[in-house]
Amino acid sequence: MSRFNRIRTWSIAGIALLAAAGFGILASHSLAADKKLVVGFSQVGAESGWRSANTDSIKGEAAKRGITLRFSDAQQKQENQIAALRTFANQHVDVIMFSPVVETGWEPVLREIKAKKIPVIISDRRADVTDDSLYATFIGSDFVEEGRRAGNWLAKYTGGKAVIAELEGTPGSAPANDRKKGFAEVIARYPGMKVVWSQTGEFTRAKGKEAFEAFLKTPEAKDVTVLFAHNDDMALGAIQAMEDAGKKPGKDIIIVSMDSVKPALEAILAGKLNCSVECSPLLGPKLFDAAEAISAGKPVEKRLVVDETVFDASNVTQAVIDARQY
Ligand code: AHR
Repeated sequence: MSRFNRIRTWSIAGIALLAAAGFGILASHSLAADKKLVVGFSQVGAESGWRSANTDSIKGEAAKRGITLRFSDAQQKQENQIAALRTFANQHVDVIMFSPVVETGWEPVLREIKAKKIPVIISDRRADVTDDSLYATFIGSDFVEEGRRAGNWLAKYTGGKAVIAELEGTPGSAPANDRKKGFAEVIARYPGMKVVWSQTGEFTRAKGKEAFEAFLKTPEAKDVTVLFAHNDDMALGAIQAMEDAGKKPGKDIIIVSMDSVKPALEAILAGKLNCSVECSPLLGPKLFDAAEAISAGKPVEKRLVVDETVFDASNVTQAVIDARQY
């Protein structure tokens, strides 16, 4: 082979190699860009209308974005959630999300996940951890503020006079702890307002009804003028219990609750429920925005609070109910 031909052969081979390498870079780059996320989500359960709407929002948004969602229902049990989180970690999903059933007890499993370098997004309910590097972001409502809103609405509506029965959410959960705290903070400013009875209805309609039914049979019930329920489902159960006992909900007993699901707004329109402080379950878009940003190496806010309002007879109409997504 002549010197010229040798140079020509090496040049062609070099160009071919460079082209192949370049193509490899481009190919692997577009593969990364096209790669669809795999997300594991551990949900609390299906205890309320709010929760069902929250699950729909998460599943719907994942499907819309072509994200593979591995969804696990913990049926209100922390041990089920911890097991689901471990499974997701062992499967090396791209992002793990969960809505903690209770506030405490998460550090060990979150440390295991951190060791595998999988980002965690906390959804809806706070997890009480001392090391905030254990999660990337927490997206959800400010439950203390919701409790304050309920207290302020009630103080205004009753002129600061109320004998209150309280139906609490799941013991140890952030919404139960924080709503109670925010509400208590406000009513402590009014000497004429006091809580005389508190019991859990575990955020379900059936348990709310059962607890309030039993309460209505006690002598203290006749003095009660207000029910503060930590969610609409328990309030709706208690409304049923009041009607069964021959009482007029919304009139004989003023009722304030949380979430603002459609059946609650319908109860407001019917005059059976007086106020529902909104708590939005439509977290899907925000959760997956965060998951995609984290996976692309972009910064995300450590805490994202959802904007919410308060519903009562002054702003609930049939048109508002019809337009409601949940
Ligand atoms: O964590 C949000 C709360 O959990 C909702 O208010 C309640 O309805 C749900 O079960």
